[in-house]
Formats: sequence, C-alpha cells, structure tokens
Amino acid sequence: MNEKLYAKIADGLVDDGYIIVEDALDANIVNNLLNSIKDQDDFKQAGISNSDHLHIDNQRRRDRIRWLQAEDDAQSDFLKFTQGLQEYLNRSLYLGLSYYEAHFAIYDRGDFYEKHLDAFKNSKNRVVTTVYYLNNEWKESDGGELIIYDKDDNRLMEVTPDSNKLVVFMSEKFPHEVLRADKKRYSIAGWFRVDKI
Ligand code: OGA
Ligand code: MN
Repeated sequence: MNEKLYAKIADGLVDDGYIIVEDALDANIVNNLLNSIKDQDDFKQAGISNSDHLHIDNQRRRDRIRWLQAEDDAQSDFLKFTQGLQEYLNRSLYLGLSYYEAHFAIYDRGDFYEKHLDAFKNSKNRVVTTVYYLNNEWKESDGGELIIYDKDDNRLMEVTPDSNKLVVFMSEKFPHEVLRADKKRYSIAGWFRVDKI
C-alpha cells in the first residue's frame, strides 16, 4: 500500500540523493507516536561518535534520545513502514540494506546538533538516513530547521520539522545540522545499514 511512496523515495535517491516528503504517512501515526513517548524519563543524552568511541559533547549536540521499540503498536507501525522501504530499496536499487535502527530525539528549547555526517568515519555501515518529524503546528519562528549541505558545503535545503514530514538521504553524501530550536522539537532519526549489529 506504500508502493507509490516507496517509488517516489527511490526516485529521489537516484535523481538527487535526497528527498523531502510532506504528509508522508497516515496522519494518525504522528499522534500515536507522540502518545507512545509521553513518559520521557528514560530518554538519554545523545552521544557523538568519532569512529572508535562515543562521547557526550553538549557543545555539538544537545538532544536526548530513545531507540524505537517494536513492542509498541505505533512504533511497530512506523518500523513496518521502514521495513517495506528497506525491501523496496533493495529490490529497486540493489542497496543490500540489512538492518534499520531508529531513535526518537527530543530537542528541548535551545538544543541543536552541529553540522555532521551520519556515516561513521572509515566505515560505510550507515547507507540511507531517514528523519521523520512529529511537530504539530511548528512555526518559522520556532527555529529547529534541518539544514542539508552538499559535499562542497553549499546549503541545499532548509527543512522545517513539520509533523508527518519525512526526509530521506544518502548518509555519506550530505552533511547536515539542526539549528537551535526555540520550542520542544520531536523527530525520529533512523538509518538503514549494510551490516548487522
Ligand atoms: C541525527 C540528525 C536530524 C533532525 O539525529 O543524526 O541529524 O532533524 N537529526 O532531527
Ligand atoms: Mn544526522
């Protein structure tokens, strides 16, 4: 049932290496996902990987995260969508994706994530990045835009984190950053990988 959307994403990856889809999924899923993270006590300060170890550096990254759990119905629905996308991309683009991992991220007021690449240095394990947004009624003045750059560091896109918007891009090709959010900001960042962890 998602075939049309999968095809659109695959075309975007082939043509441009990235795609932004507004109103991507069934509208109910956003509020179901938000309900599933009402209890936010176990969100943890996110780390930064520099290929051999992970450390916390709140000068560069301030969000808090929690990995998705398939036991939850809403999170399971989201993971079914990404599982279908993984299979479609493997069938149509022969990407050989073997695994998907995703976490919720909460940016509190004032939080940001400096410019970075998602693929770890010296390893090609993160191949395709997805970012899905859960912010109803986000205003321009709320900040928190995702800025996507090309390999020469030219600004390609400025993405407001609107509810039900999905961004997909090739992990190694696009440096990106999250500008300071002036309001609590929710997203799900995920990665299709070629290895198995
Ligand atoms: C990430 C990331 C972007 C966003 O978690 O690696 O780049 O807009 N997130 O939340
Ligand atoms: Mn990223």
